[in-house]
Amino acid sequence: MSDKTGHSTRAVHLGASADANTRAVTTPVVQAAAYAFPDLDTWRAVLAGELDGDIYGRNSHPTERQFGERMALLEGTAAAVTYSTGMAAVTGTLLALLWPGDRAVATRDAYGATYLLFSQILPSFGIECVVVDTTDDAIRAVVEDGCDLLYLETPTNPTLKILDIELLAGDAHEAGAKVVVDNTFATPINQNPAELGADLILHSGTKFLCGHGDAMAGVVCGDAEDIARLYRYRELTGPALDPHSAFLMLRSLKTLGLRVERQNATAATIAAYLSEHAAVKRVHYPGLDSHPGHQVARRQMRGFGGVLSFELRGGAEAVERALPRLRLANLAANLGQVETTVGPASLTSHIELSAEERAASGVPDHLVRYAVGIEDVADLMDDLDHALDGLD
Ligand SMILES: Cc1ncc(COP(=O)(O)O)c(C=O)c1O
Repeated sequence: MSDKTGHSTRAVHLGASADANTRAVTTPVVQAAAYAFPDLDTWRAVLAGELDGDIYGRNSHPTERQFGERMALLEGTAAAVTYSTGMAAVTGTLLALLWPGDRAVATRDAYGATYLLFSQILPSFGIECVVVDTTDDAIRAVVEDGCDLLYLETPTNPTLKILDIELLAGDAHEAGAKVVVDNTFATPINQNPAELGADLILHSGTKFLCGHGDAMAGVVCGDAEDIARLYRYRELTGPALDPHSAFLMLRSLKTLGLRVERQNATAATIAAYLSEHAAVKRVHYPGLDSHPGHQVARRQMRGFGGVLSFELRGGAEAVERALPRLRLANLAANLGQVETTVGPASLTSHIELSAEERAASGVPDHLVRYAVGIEDVADLMDDLDHALDGLD
């Protein structure tokens, strides 16, 4: 496929037009734990990579390989490795790359479980983790003092902060670090961190990539050498993606462009609408001119994404009153699916944190994350109008 091919086209086509064995246009689900060989030499040749094929489902299988290949194509990298969940991808990446004595830099604003990995789990392995404020300047100041791995999430969950990937990747590379970017919120439709210097790009596939809230997955894209290292760690530790979920990811990628473009437009309209609403104190959405990261977002993103967050003037009490009055948006912990989902940080992105840990992470409990689906925007605005009525 040519380099100029559009993102939506890439998401639909892998390059091959139909399954080589069955001629099926869609990728078959190969629901098998093991693959049989006619003789030991063929088996050994597959093991050595001299022949295409699979041996055992924890190592690889055709459906997950196709999902990985399509993601690498979408992120503009040479290779990809798939996982059972997004957190398996985050953990697998960090544990495969970091060793006792290494120094990793991450930010306070990040998905809650990722924040806990850096603040609690990795230090217990003897890895020094410096978790800094989510600004380019704060990151640059600590990277300068030495860094083996820089971990960025942009936009962040749920505060929608923007980090300058190109700038920070430049600094991190000078310090000799690998740069990992969680691209879950942007999706490859809106942002390609590899073009901006990131070494490894990871996703919770459970979100926009799946888009239908019916499967979980993770995926990491990067160059062949890094991905081989991650793959080795994944095949030994076991968080493989199951065939049916891999099939659902491939099915969903075909509509990724359509869904994300619609979600970009809807989120922009809702963010503008909420910014003017008397009951709303603050809206966080990188597409708004007033967002502190707007200029950087314009430079590094093609669209601003389908998630926004907001604070109500009435604080926690207003959130308790308003959210149950929503009739269309689901009170649910996922995001990026075709149904709009909404919830406070304490019950969504930061549900795994105690109240004290949430306070330390700096994410306000009553911040409401609103992830738009593909419903008609007028209906979503009516829904919000109804829920916020009388709160100003
Ligand atoms: C930005 C981000 N990264 C990683 C994850 C983890 O993904 P999963 O829930 O698939 O393990 C999430 C989950 O919400 C997320 O929002």
